[in-house]
Amino acid sequence: MKSAPWWKEATIYQIYPRSFFDSNGDGEGDLPGVTSQLDYVKNLGVDAIWLSPFYTSPNKDGGYDVANPRDVDPRFGNLDDAKELIAQAHKRNLRVIADIVPNHFSDQHEWFQAALDAGRGSKERERFHFYDANEDGTPPNNWISLFGGPSWTQVADGQFYLHLFDSSQPDLNWENPEVNADFEKTLRFWIDLGVDGFRIDVAHGLVKEDVLTNHPDPQGLSNALRLDVAMDSEVRNALLLTVPYFDRQGVHEIYKKWRKLFDSYGEREIMAVAEAWVHPPVNATRYVRADELHQVFNFDLLTAEFDSKVLFDVVERSISLNATVNALPTWALSNHDSPRVASRIGEEQARALALFVFGLPGSAYVFAGQELGLPDGQLQDSDRQDPTFLRTNGQIKGRDGARVPLPWSGNTTPFGFSTGKPWLPISQSWKDLTVESELADPKSSLHLYRNALELRKEFLVGAGGITWLESSQHGHKSDSLLSYSRGAITVVMNLSDSAEECEAEGKLIIVSGGTVDARDGKKVIPARSTAWFLA
Ligand code: NOJ
Repeated sequence: MKSAPWWKEATIYQIYPRSFFDSNGDGEGDLPGVTSQLDYVKNLGVDAIWLSPFYTSPNKDGGYDVANPRDVDPRFGNLDDAKELIAQAHKRNLRVIADIVPNHFSDQHEWFQAALDAGRGSKERERFHFYDANEDGTPPNNWISLFGGPSWTQVADGQFYLHLFDSSQPDLNWENPEVNADFEKTLRFWIDLGVDGFRIDVAHGLVKEDVLTNHPDPQGLSNALRLDVAMDSEVRNALLLTVPYFDRQGVHEIYKKWRKLFDSYGEREIMAVAEAWVHPPVNATRYVRADELHQVFNFDLLTAEFDSKVLFDVVERSISLNATVNALPTWALSNHDSPRVASRIGEEQARALALFVFGLPGSAYVFAGQELGLPDGQLQDSDRQDPTFLRTNGQIKGRDGARVPLPWSGNTTPFGFSTGKPWLPISQSWKDLTVESELADPKSSLHLYRNALELRKEFLVGAGGITWLESSQHGHKSDSLLSYSRGAITVVMNLSDSAEECEAEGKLIIVSGGTVDARDGKKVIPARSTAWFLA
């Protein structure tokens, strides 16, 4: 029987290269730095790394402003460093996923510079969304950028260009065939260099409709799209159904073409995962139909409360919706755009949730530093570099807290990350969270991740679906426990602040925190902890 493709239930480790390991003392992580730590990554037990962008970029948006998608930015090294990284990863049987950014380029990309020079009406401008001002001089419509402020910036001759993100990130016009041709060239470039897959940035955003039409509530829409703005969920959901620039039918035509390109590499099993924030949730499954992409991120766990009903609903919905297109879900607790899970829900809860999620079918994504239980870095406003912070005049703090470099070793900051001054300060309070210190402590978060990922591979990958236990309204008897069985493993999470009895059978093989006791033939799961039992 043909074995499942490598990505189907892979554990994928997200590396933000600038924050991972600095090999040359300039205070910023780089590709040789990543290569130098691949043994650490391999020993974690993951199957692949996803590298956030390392391409030529003025770095106005952490490299998601790409000036040349087929070259490496000098701050990260060069193409030979990329080749070496890929070769060393493959030597360790780790796959490499590159991040591709098709919604926009940097304003420093040669196409945009040419568009500025060529002027209105030129074919160079047709690669982007350039329009004249309204008669009263205002921008072509009232859309608000996802980073705050208007979505339009005016150039010297009076035309405006569209940018859903920073003004340095002009949106590409995907109705122009030159754009797809260029991206296919980029995909082939990296596949030929050895990468095994792609994470597609803003995968739902490429095709716009009604570009000249105002939105009835642009500020409401902008708030609804932000994870950090609280809003009644019905209001939010209603607004999210009205986004004129996301999740248009046309994006699927693009991914059908790309799928053919990926499949043309046959046994290399090139995969792609879509970053698609879409609503309603069922729409996400369209990205993973058999002739489109392989995975789509499920972002629900980046914001979900540590609550049994909420988590039950997220898991159940994701598994069942994906099943309608014969796909498996993905699970992510943290990434470079959101608060770290340990800060968001608490340290013990974060460990418990990770162990709960590692048992589930599908792919698990781990954001570098999550395995150490890192919290968000504490930063002064003067440290912040995120365009969200800058474009909202500091009203929104932005994402830098999740991007603080990793602590590796030693007792003083920057803990071996760099011999220079790190690009974001690392707090001295992370002394006990370094790789070195956690390796020495069998009870550390790092050991939990390593043990869990080993057990996941041994007992769970390929083990089929889950069965919720203790049948009741939402899969459990009390609000404290959430449990399921899968293959030979029973997973029990206790979300409450006190120990709880459960009837799980089998031998305890791992617990995220505390000690599991036996009482009257029952198992007692510690507060805020998850345990796995082997039948
Ligand atoms: C999503 C990326 O994850 C984020 O970091 C970036 O700012 C936006 N897309 C724009 O590219």
